[in-house]
Amino acid sequence: MEAHEEATATALTSRRSLPVPPVELREHAGRVPDSRDYPEETYERLGKVICDHLIGALPETWSFEGKRVLDFGCGAGRVLRHLIPESGRAELWGCDIHRPSIEWLEQNLCPPLNVFVNGEHPPLPHPSGTST
Ligand SMILES: C[S@@+](CC[C@H](N)C(=O)[O-])C[C@H]1O[C@@H](n2cnc3c(N)ncnc32)[C@H](O)[C@@H]1O
Repeated sequence: MEAHEEATATALTSRRSLPVPPVELREHAGRVPDSRDYPEETYERLGKVICDHLIGALPETWSFEGKRVLDFGCGAGRVLRHLIPESGRAELWGCDIHRPSIEWLEQNLCPPLNVFVNGEHPPLPHPSGTST
């Protein structure tokens, strides 16, 4: 990581709150049932619940240390943003077919996140077996 990227990553990981994507990108990840709105707080809370659920499904011995983690279909990072505290010990990647979501992530949460727009068909740009 370049020095300026490292500075951005450090600033983001130490922030109490991260930038939140605009409502159209929040809604792209799924509308909230019975709601006309998708408040930023709900987006944050839902992402954390999903993230905790996913981590809870991993074996107890599993660790982020040295891993490259890929969130396939990450949207604007509703879940991935909650893994940012792990960015010092794991490479965090996200990809999505929805370019506006990835562009928002590039502008707001990279680094420490790494993202790319994937195509409709395989392969992904990472060799098979190099992501968790
Ligand atoms: C229900 S949303 C969940 C987004 C994110 N994981 C979250 O929890 O906020 C599903 C995501 O999958 C993406 N998606 C759908 N088909 C895809 C494909 N073939 N390749 C990559 N992403 C895809 C959509 O653009 C959307 O962002």
